[in-house]
Amino acid sequence: MSDVKYCCGGLGLFLCVLVVIVVVRTFTFSVRTDQVVECKNSDSDFIKLNDQILERFKKGLRIQTVSRDVGDISEQALVDIQNLIKKEYPVVHSSPLVTLDVVGNYSLLYSIQGTNTSLIPYLLASHLDVVPAQQENWDYPPFGAETHNGFIYARGTIDVKLGVFGILESMEYLLSNGFKPKRTIYIGFGHDEEIGGSVGALNIANKLEEKGISQLEYIIDEGLNVLDGLVPGLSKPSALIGTSEKGQAILRLKVKGKPGHSSMPPKESALSILVQAVHRLETTPHPSMFGYGPEKDMFEHIASELSLPYRMLMSNLWLFSPLVSRFLAMSPTTNAIVRTITAVTMFQSGVKDNVIPGDAVAIVNHRIHPAQSIQQVIDYDRYIINDDRVIIEIKNSMEPLPISPCDDNNLGYQMIKNSIRQVWTNSVVAPGVMIGNTDTKHYIHLSNNIYRFTPSYLYPQDIPRFHGNNERISLQNYQQAINFYYHLIKNTDAGLSPSHKHSDEL
Ligand SMILES: *[C@@H]1O[C@H](CO)[C@@H](O)[C@H](O)[C@H]1NC(C)=O
Ligand SMILES: *[C@@H]1O[C@H](CO)[C@@H](O)[C@H](O)[C@H]1NC(C)=O
Repeated sequence: MSDVKYCCGGLGLFLCVLVVIVVVRTFTFSVRTDQVVECKNSDSDFIKLNDQILERFKKGLRIQTVSRDVGDISEQALVDIQNLIKKEYPVVHSSPLVTLDVVGNYSLLYSIQGTNTSLIPYLLASHLDVVPAQQENWDYPPFGAETHNGFIYARGTIDVKLGVFGILESMEYLLSNGFKPKRTIYIGFGHDEEIGGSVGALNIANKLEEKGISQLEYIIDEGLNVLDGLVPGLSKPSALIGTSEKGQAILRLKVKGKPGHSSMPPKESALSILVQAVHRLETTPHPSMFGYGPEKDMFEHIASELSLPYRMLMSNLWLFSPLVSRFLAMSPTTNAIVRTITAVTMFQSGVKDNVIPGDAVAIVNHRIHPAQSIQQVIDYDRYIINDDRVIIEIKNSMEPLPISPCDDNNLGYQMIKNSIRQVWTNSVVAPGVMIGNTDTKHYIHLSNNIYRFTPSYLYPQDIPRFHGNNERISLQNYQQAINFYYHLIKNTDAGLSPSHKHSDEL
């Protein structure tokens, strides 16, 4: 104590207090991390990937439930997968606790009746459809579901039939073993997520409301993954739970011009006015929103696991936010999580080499940070362009989704976190923001607690397999996915134990 006083004497008082706070926070700052029991192959309730479980997953992968475009889905395949599911999971489909509603013709909504009706139900969500696959670019047939070197190759393995079959497998196991949930469980499988979910997920949401459900305790849908080697300064894999989704604004920028002969050009053509506008947008990024979205929580949640310099910075974002924000802006991947991104994607003007172009049109694609709105993005663009001759129209847009809480007493977040840590024992769980979109936009009125997590384990080089070629899942990973959902259901039913307090020990 006297050393501290001595050091704090005179001019350095303020700085010294800062240093003390920084050091103390570096070594004490942490978020709720419950003791969890590791999920082991030797557990009596471990769900082993046997031949039956593997074969029914493969049968599901072989059904080509491809969504191509709005109005262009694979009707027969959706009927086939529904019949397969009904046949392969007999206990789920005959249990007196379970009700199945088929909505929007092909989407499935199950309810598993809980014994305590004063507990608010929750929803496990996934989707039945997949994006198309170009067979010639694959090493193995995309709908063959062949196993090679411990991996099953098929479209839909990670996006996201592992969710559909993982949830069904865990529920079949639970109900076969006499499980009666206290809290009612809903399971929703949309059939058109890849083209917006505007029939499937929308009708699932409507059906829930029809059943008198206005609030769900939480929702877990597909989303972020367990990623190995993503975060600088972190030696363990990170498991990110998406607490929001970036929005999107596709803008059409237009300058009206008078076409004329190139021998008598106007002082400024529509083309050149628009070029200047687009150049200004591209060279003036939107402001950093670091600290206003889920990214600050993300770094705070992993802080205590980072190596020292990173740990000190991330435990003290109250002080180092500006510095960290500038550091994150240096790489395109991390820059995308701290601000609204601007990409100029199309430009059209001119028809002939001796004619002054008439109108000039450009398309600008923004991915909107969760702390901003579409209107704010457009206002900022106008301010940067600073030229009334440029007309801005919205071609297509979606507001960012609300940010779900990740605090110590949030049941959904903590149950997902604990279940991940039981299965991937060395992973560090943190909230994150999703750049892509899911079905959850149709569910936002049903819960404040919406989480996006797919129980798949990826290395950075696996990411292009999403919607790309050679999508695959390891046999071990599929087994982990099933056990993840099993633990999630068991944990949620047990509820959140009171948060551990240091005063308990006094
Ligand atoms: C369901 O299928 C019928 C017959 O094909 C069609 O008329 C109807 O619009 C479909 N409903 C939905 C919600 O897509
Ligand atoms: C049902 O849940 C409520 C809310 O948690 C709890 O207060 C009540 O004791 C439970 N009832 C039974 C019979 O377990």
